[in-house]
Formats: sequence, C-alpha cells, structure tokens
Amino acid sequence: MLVNAADMLKKAEAGHYALGAFNTNNLEWTLAVLQAAEEAKSPLIMQCTAGAAKWMGSFKVCADMVKAAVEALNITVPVALHLDHGSYEDCFKAIDAGFTSIMYDGSHEETFQINLDRTKELVELAHSKGLSIEAEVGGIGGVEDGVTSNGELADPDECKQIADLGVDFLACGIGNIHGVYPADWAGLSFDRLGEIKAKTGDLPLVLHGGTGIPVDQIQKAISLGVSKINVNTDLQLAFAAATRKYIEEGKDLQGKGFDPRKVLKPGRDAIVARTKELMEEFGSVGKAE
Ligand code: 13P
Repeated sequence: MLVNAADMLKKAEAGHYALGAFNTNNLEWTLAVLQAAEEAKSPLIMQCTAGAAKWMGSFKVCADMVKAAVEALNITVPVALHLDHGSYEDCFKAIDAGFTSIMYDGSHEETFQINLDRTKELVELAHSKGLSIEAEVGGIGGVEDGVTSNGELADPDECKQIADLGVDFLACGIGNIHGVYPADWAGLSFDRLGEIKAKTGDLPLVLHGGTGIPVDQIQKAISLGVSKINVNTDLQLAFAAATRKYIEEGKDLQGKGFDPRKVLKPGRDAIVARTKELMEEFGSVGKAE
C-alpha cells in the first residue's frame, strides 16, 4: 500500500536526515528504485512528472504500476507516490489516478498571488483526500520537462506565506538547478536557506536538482533543514553509462544479447546501486526499520 509523504518527511526533519525523491521513468526505474529502498531499509518517495507519465501512457498507468510493483516485490518500507512539478491541472489528474502526494509548482504562474491562491485551494483538496502536498517558491533553474526558469533565491517572506497555508513540504530556490551543474556554478546559498528555515520553522524543505551537488553541500543543506532531495538526472546518467558500456563491449551482439531484458539489465542494476549510494549520503538508510 502506498502512503502519503507527510509523516516520513516530518520524521526526517526531526531526525536531521533527508529522503531522496527519485523520479521514475518506466517499469525498470520503478522496480530498481523500489529494490534499492527495500535493501537499504529506507522510506521512499517515488515521483513522476507529467511528461514521464505521458511517456508511460497516463498518470493512472504510472500509479497502477507503482502499486502493483510494491505488492509484487513485497516491499515493506513506506512508499509515497508523488507528482513532481505538477501544473494546477496536473494535480487534479494525479489525484484521480491514485497518487498519494502532489507537488503544485506555482512558481511559473504570472503572479505570486496566483501561486498563493492555487496552493491554498490544492492544500485543502489534497488534505481532504489524505494526500500530502508540496509547493514551490522561486523558480529552480535549468530545464526539466521543457520547463525552464531562471534560477533564483526564493524570497523568505513568500516562503512563509506559502508555508502558512499548511503545505506539508516546501521547495525553495537556493541557487540549485535541474540537470548537470555548469562548471562555474556558484553553489548553494546557505545564507538564504538559513533565512527561509528561520521563517518556516519545522516545515520540511525540499532541494530540487539533487544531481551533482557536492556531498559536503548536500550534508550542510540537510543540517540546515532540507529533508527531501529530488534526484532525476543522476539515475539517468547511471543508466546511460551502464547501457553504453554493454553496447560498446558488443554484448548485444553476443548470443541473445539483443534480448531487451538483457539490454536493460545493466542499466537497471546501475540504478539500484546508485540509489543506495545516494540514500547513504542523505542519511536515510535504516530509517524504515
Ligand atoms: P535533477 O534532474 O537535477 O536531479 O533534478 C531532479 C528534480 O529536481 C526533480 O524535481
């Protein structure tokens, strides 16, 4: 059974560790990330963008797949299925499909007031159905699912206004960006993170763009109140490198090496290994025991 993400993130915030929120892209990703969480005895947030759901067929295909996989693998750790960067409309679709947690990303709306009004409405809807909800203040730079924003430092007062609506966790820009970080990246702004934390109290904060941030910065961010770290590109890189190696070694040309299960296996195994490494860095290993 899937759960919402509120309790697991409250525990992470109180316990000074973070949970990885890993994006799924397909069946292989789903099974690999679940296997990693079970082996690491870590609570898990599996998340999916509207674009990835479209690739899979629909939000419902994704939700049914994740639920069935949790059952089939006899997963004992708590698992939440979270909508990543949902538009206002996506939130309704994901709720109908059976997601247990949503993110409404109102940081791209024309005005902060629209973000505020829609977050308020969706907090009430999500909570009336037992779901958890994440909101966002301050665009996260980089490109994700075709959505680009200029990375910014979130305004602590705006964070407080959104936090006061009762969101369960809050994404705020602190210099982080999606995708691979450029060589001249300035790093995370711990000053801004501290200012936001001072205004939002024990609300779990979310760090998007978890790929490629040096471990010391990750751990400092966790110590300052980050409880959820979103990871997508990192696992794509792990999958791509393992698949490339298999092909470059000519293994697809040996015997029945072209069998799709054989072609996909190295990438799937690489996702399991990398997810467990990240759970170790974030401090969530053993937290579901
Ligand atoms: P990366 O792709 O940079 O890991 O970011 C993922 C993310 O923030 C999903 O919301």
